[in-house]
Amino acid sequence: MIVLYRSEDLRDLLDARRREGANIGFVPTMGFLHEGHLSLVRASIAETERTVVSIFVNPTQFAEGEDLDSYPRDLRRDTELLEGAGVHYLFAPDVDELYPDGAGRTTVDPGRIAEVGEGKYRPGHFTGVATVCTKLFSIVGPCRAYFGQKDAQQVAVVRQVVGDLDLDVEVVACPTLREPSGLAMSSRNSSLDDEVKKAAAVIYEGLEVAAKKAREGQSDPSALIAAVEQAVSARPELKVQYVEVVDPQSFEPVERVTERALITTAVLAGRTRLIDNLELNAAPS
Ligand code: PAJ
Repeated sequence: MIVLYRSEDLRDLLDARRREGANIGFVPTMGFLHEGHLSLVRASIAETERTVVSIFVNPTQFAEGEDLDSYPRDLRRDTELLEGAGVHYLFAPDVDELYPDGAGRTTVDPGRIAEVGEGKYRPGHFTGVATVCTKLFSIVGPCRAYFGQKDAQQVAVVRQVVGDLDLDVEVVACPTLREPSGLAMSSRNSSLDDEVKKAAAVIYEGLEVAAKKAREGQSDPSALIAAVEQAVSARPELKVQYVEVVDPQSFEPVERVTERALITTAVLAGRTRLIDNLELNAAPS
């Protein structure tokens, strides 16, 4: 595996590979890797000839007061994991490399979708994500880019940006990997102590109860939302920030679950924010 820190070096190297006819798969991450990240890496390695992984804790997607400074980092361990997985190139730029003139001058604003769902609680987050993904796509030039359904709204934002800006990349969404307890894997889980981590299994349990109710014919979002709220509120260590039933493309709340919808949630475990979601399939009418 070749580790690169400068955009120009990566670009030159990938240009050479492309001239030889290789197609490039890309997995953007913020590091502190776990099996969820590695599942995207494996998909890319299986489906493309050269896989690039980026590790960059992108400051523009963190709002004032969020966990940018305390975000977990371990580049040495990440490098070993990626090497072991058979990744070809690791791109690990520093902040000055990607934002040499400071961040925030030219940005990619995804509009309305950035303001609903997660966007209501994380103002500016999706503009930061859209901007950095556009920059990374431009540097890497991948034919396919792999994202986790764990961050479902991020997938929808990136798909929208790729469509609206005519970017020549296929966005591939991969399933959420979970701990044996059902808790969605996340770099942020590393800040949970064992008791809280155990308690957090109720998030997925609640989502599953909601999904079962939807399959059995419950189409009223408030009944599905209540199922998740009830499951989470049984644990004093956890606090529901929101539960919503949304359209999987626009992330606008739906009034009834008719075809496909997503149930999405953010839960606070102390200072750690945990997000998760599950697809709802309505009962056939
Ligand atoms: P990060 O949180 O490091 O996640 C990198 C990728 O791994 C994202 O596509 C995310 O959805 C996926 N991922 C995380 N947990 C997962 C899980 N349990 N199962 C499957 N996939 C999972 O998301 C980001 O970084 C950043 O916003 C980024 C896209 C890199 C832009 O800065």
